[in-house]
Amino acid sequence: MKLGLKTQILPADEAAVAQAAECLKAGGLVAFPTETVYGLGADATNAAAIARLYEAKGRPSFNPLIAHVGDIASALKIAHFNITARRLAGHFWPGPLTLVLPNTSDCPVAELATAGLETIAVRLPAHPLAHAILRAFGGPVVAPSANLSGHVSPTAADHVASDLDGLIDLIIDGGPVSVGVESTIVGCFEAPMLLRPGGLAREEIERLLGQPLARPPQDEPAETGQPLAPGMLASHYAPHTRVRLDAASVETGEALLAFGPAAVPGMESASAVMNLSARGNLAEAAVNLFGYLRALDAKGARAIAVMPVPHQGLGEAINDRLRRAAIERR
Ligand code: TXA
Ligand code: MG
Repeated sequence: MKLGLKTQILPADEAAVAQAAECLKAGGLVAFPTETVYGLGADATNAAAIARLYEAKGRPSFNPLIAHVGDIASALKIAHFNITARRLAGHFWPGPLTLVLPNTSDCPVAELATAGLETIAVRLPAHPLAHAILRAFGGPVVAPSANLSGHVSPTAADHVASDLDGLIDLIIDGGPVSVGVESTIVGCFEAPMLLRPGGLAREEIERLLGQPLARPPQDEPAETGQPLAPGMLASHYAPHTRVRLDAASVETGEALLAFGPAAVPGMESASAVMNLSARGNLAEAAVNLFGYLRALDAKGARAIAVMPVPHQGLGEAINDRLRRAAIERR
């Protein structure tokens, strides 16, 4: 459903930063780049703005949002940091890491954004433009990925426009992102827990903490229980075309999402071929992942066949997103 808004797209400069901050203060919806993916920002303390955000994305309002801040002092106002959280923030912020923490008793973030949980997801992004907008605005900004709910996350401004034109107020075009998959989410509970693999590799976090990260319970949370990672189990990051994983060959009418230098049988007759990283580099593959899924989705292929991607490092997040993209939808 279109809200009939005129969505303005501005090149990234000082005037755009000021306009973004003004728009957020007025309850507007502003898409801006972070180093992971483009986010759709709203004033985290403004329930009406957050309601508009859920509506624009078509996102279920029980799936809580990440509060983005411009500095650690702002994070301390909204969340309690235990020792693990301090170490992680001290070492990896600003960067592609989100921490789930108990919220403070006077946390100003609207309940609609936290889905009434007693925890809050907090992130201090490293992208200079995100940083400038957060500093100019001066308060926490909730920002889910700037795509329609369930669709592939945006790694460039035109991805945002193709999903959300007419539904949001402003898009700041800061060019393509540098990481390409969403932030890693760590729950700083008694045992630190990997809630979502992402742009910071699990191994780096475990090396700093000197212990393995716990796994979230496998089952869908009971209605009465507190969801640990709400929204993590559904089909997600999904193109419209069917996705076939671990492809060892290309079947008639399929497009191929390749990885590495090897050729696979049937490749020459694929309706389209894009290689995430011909040299087999996982960081390069992460940057290309969502853009290539969008591009192959537009080819009208019968399915997108995906070659296997190694699981270590950023491969964990890449495989996670591919698995969700391949879940059959109704
Ligand atoms: O890289 C990113 O994290 C991007 C950029 C824009 O910052 N944002 C992003 O937001 O990926 P979103 O809304 O697409 O994903 C946020 C995830 C959801 O899976 C949500 O369920 C989880 O964070 N989450 C939010 N609050 C939570 C909480 N209190 N406890 C557990 N999970 C939470
Ligand atoms: Mg998302």
